[in-house]
Amino acid sequence: MSIRARKLMYDPTEELPDNLLLALFNIYKIYHSKKIEHVALRGVSLSIHSEEMISCVGPSGSGKTTLLRILAGLIPPTAGTVYWKKLGADLSLFTVSQLASVRNRFLGYISQQPFLLSQFSVLKNVMFPGMINDRLSSRELKYRALDLLGRVGLLDRVDSSPNKLSSGEVQRVSLASSLINQPDVVFADEPTGNLDFDTGEQFLDLMKEINENLGTAFFIVTHSPQVAKRTDRVMELSDGMLIGHHTVANLAALHHTRTLVPDAQNRIYLPEELMESLDFPWGFSVDIAEKKLVLNPIAIEDIDPEEILEKELPCQLCGTSNSYKNRFCDHCGSLLSQFKFFKEN
Ligand SMILES: Nc1ncnc2c1ncn2[C@@H]1O[C@H](COP(=O)(O)OP(=O)(O)O)[C@@H](O)[C@H]1O
Ligand SMILES: [Mg+2]
Repeated sequence: MSIRARKLMYDPTEELPDNLLLALFNIYKIYHSKKIEHVALRGVSLSIHSEEMISCVGPSGSGKTTLLRILAGLIPPTAGTVYWKKLGADLSLFTVSQLASVRNRFLGYISQQPFLLSQFSVLKNVMFPGMINDRLSSRELKYRALDLLGRVGLLDRVDSSPNKLSSGEVQRVSLASSLINQPDVVFADEPTGNLDFDTGEQFLDLMKEINENLGTAFFIVTHSPQVAKRTDRVMELSDGMLIGHHTVANLAALHHTRTLVPDAQNRIYLPEELMESLDFPWGFSVDIAEKKLVLNPIAIEDIDPEEILEKELPCQLCGTSNSYKNRFCDHCGSLLSQFKFFKEN
């Protein structure tokens, strides 16, 4: 089946790096439930290049799995673009069956709880994603699957049932299976989460070997310093935002290695621990001095309550001008951000 989007989102002459595989532009994801809407991603932009090994870290609930599932075309973003350079198009332009075909051909996915088909042997499980697309004969597929099972050290388990495998072996079969269609990139969600340290280490060695020998890019979501240490770069998510990059990450003290990244609107997220250590209860002003950004705390004595009372304050939500005396917007009722000034004045 051919894969063609209904129209191109981007001008194909636009200059993009040669080795770009895919890029996210300003992705938002809102989960809708009956009672409340939950914003899981807020304006995430990132790119993945061929042959890269990237990890993505962040506290539980920060949006890592959501990001991975959007990257892999498993769920659509609420807003923003998932651009695959090879297809010259945004994934949102594909129909459901075209998307399934894109996923099958160009990417591998290892989920948090890998799932093997128990009625099939290990060999058939590895061949399975290749059987769906009919591009290779079963002889060629078998040859490829045996090569991959050799690479992950499971040639002696070819005929076994998946039920007889240890969790480390199941993980290795899922890796082999994710590679059967020779994807450009494999997405893995906490792939060592259920493995002990040594088994996890062996699995990482395997991913590294595959990356070096087959040139497959990896995007790995993880909690584990063990994984983050082994990747070329680390992206840090916090509260649905991509707040920083690390080349070598120390997960116990991310602030030591973090490079803050502005988002598409030039917003920089100042991490909680930074704000706590700065302790600017009255806010701060920003200057540039010798090409450095300087944050100056506002001292309470700098604030003249009489002067403030005469000012107007636009509501951040609806833009209505309010008196500084107001805590809530006259028009929409949102909390106005200056209320701190009046707490103690
Ligand atoms: N299907 C869903 N419906 C509603 N909320 C969800 C759904 N999946 C995830 N969330 C919420 O979105 C946020 C991010 O979740 P997730 O991407 O799983 O984060 P992580 O993988 O970093 O733990 C969490 O607050 C989670 O509760
Ligand atoms: Mg998760």
